[in-house]
Amino acid sequence: MIRTIGILGGGQLGRMLTLEAKRMGFRVVTLEPLSDSPCGQVADEQIVAAYDDLRAIGELGARSDVVTYEFENIPLESVLALEADRRIVHPGSTALRITQERILEKNFVRDCGIPTAEFRPVRTREELGSAEAAIGFPAMLKTTMGGYDGKGQWVVRSREDADAAWSAAKGRPLIWERLIAFERELSIIAARNERGEIVAFPTSENQHDHGVLATTIVPGRIPAEIGECARRYATMIAERLGIVGTFCVEFFQRGGELLVNEIAPRVHNSGHYSLDATQISQYEMHVRAICGLPLVEPRQFRPAVMVNILGAGAGDTLGGLDGLLRERDLKLHVYGKAHAALRRKMGHFTVLGDNLDDALAKAERGRGMLRWIDERAAAIR
Ligand SMILES: Nc1ncnc2c1ncn2[C@@H]1O[C@H](COP(=O)(O)OP(=O)(O)O)[C@@H](O)[C@H]1O
Ligand SMILES: [Mg+2]
Repeated sequence: MIRTIGILGGGQLGRMLTLEAKRMGFRVVTLEPLSDSPCGQVADEQIVAAYDDLRAIGELGARSDVVTYEFENIPLESVLALEADRRIVHPGSTALRITQERILEKNFVRDCGIPTAEFRPVRTREELGSAEAAIGFPAMLKTTMGGYDGKGQWVVRSREDADAAWSAAKGRPLIWERLIAFERELSIIAARNERGEIVAFPTSENQHDHGVLATTIVPGRIPAEIGECARRYATMIAERLGIVGTFCVEFFQRGGELLVNEIAPRVHNSGHYSLDATQISQYEMHVRAICGLPLVEPRQFRPAVMVNILGAGAGDTLGGLDGLLRERDLKLHVYGKAHAALRRKMGHFTVLGDNLDDALAKAERGRGMLRWIDERAAAIR
């Protein structure tokens, strides 16, 4: 019997996962180095410790009946240590090992027969030259590990750019990817349980701002075949990786073709809308999957647009709520973070519409109302 869920990572994904797990009657313990974390604020307990503190990881395992994570940049060793202690971790170390390293991940996707952007590893100066010769410009250089929200990435259009990126990476291994001139970015959220049941949410369309997700539109404005293809690819990936839990596959759409960009072995920002627009959210689906409960196909009530509320780097108080909250078909989520650093994910809202154009218009109206207020500066004036 599973009563307590352990979560590695204390961010907003863990918070929303916890709120859904609590609604279903589970206890939640989170492990996160920052005290008073978004997840810690709502969990039953927070262990304040680093992700590589194996004593604390052991404690998390001892207090939990199943352990999961809300962030793939946790050390693989921590998950291996839990597994060595015979703790249940979902998704397990195999899925984590492959999805947390971009080269392993792309090789895995290609082995499944699924297209990706062309790429080359860049671990040395020599490999920087051979990647340039093989793929050329424009390209995207990314650190192979540890990146998120566009961090550790450089668009390179010339040898000077490539040299600058190489220096900025300070010896960390890189991947050279062809810069894809995509029409759209898409993602699909799906889930698999130990019985091998797989369900998938509608394919969504994602718009980014400097590598950070800004808007998700569901369902994505794509032909049915593209949506079906995304679903087929997600199923293949889940089966081959043996994922248990909710996961996300991000794609570039170029004409009739879908290229996999990356796999997140966890609940995902582009699935936030499911809290308000489907009968079962991605978070509940994850809880069901890791606790050995049945999965059922999600059903979307109405077209939805999710808008991320990103920090501006000036002001920590969100203004404009009076106007925003007058919209009847809108749900606001705020993550409880103290400082609104530039493009930091502080909250989001989801609006439902009679059709997508209606939802998009409401989303843009809502976005236009919000602003960050610097209360300290206001007090000084
Ligand atoms: N090869 C590429 N071609 C074009 N755009 C890219 C490429 N790789 C990444 N991007 C852009 O950067 C964003 C973030 O890159 P991604 O690989 O998803 O890293 P992260 O782990 O930060 O989410 C993508 O959503 C996309 O907008
Ligand atoms: Mg991404």
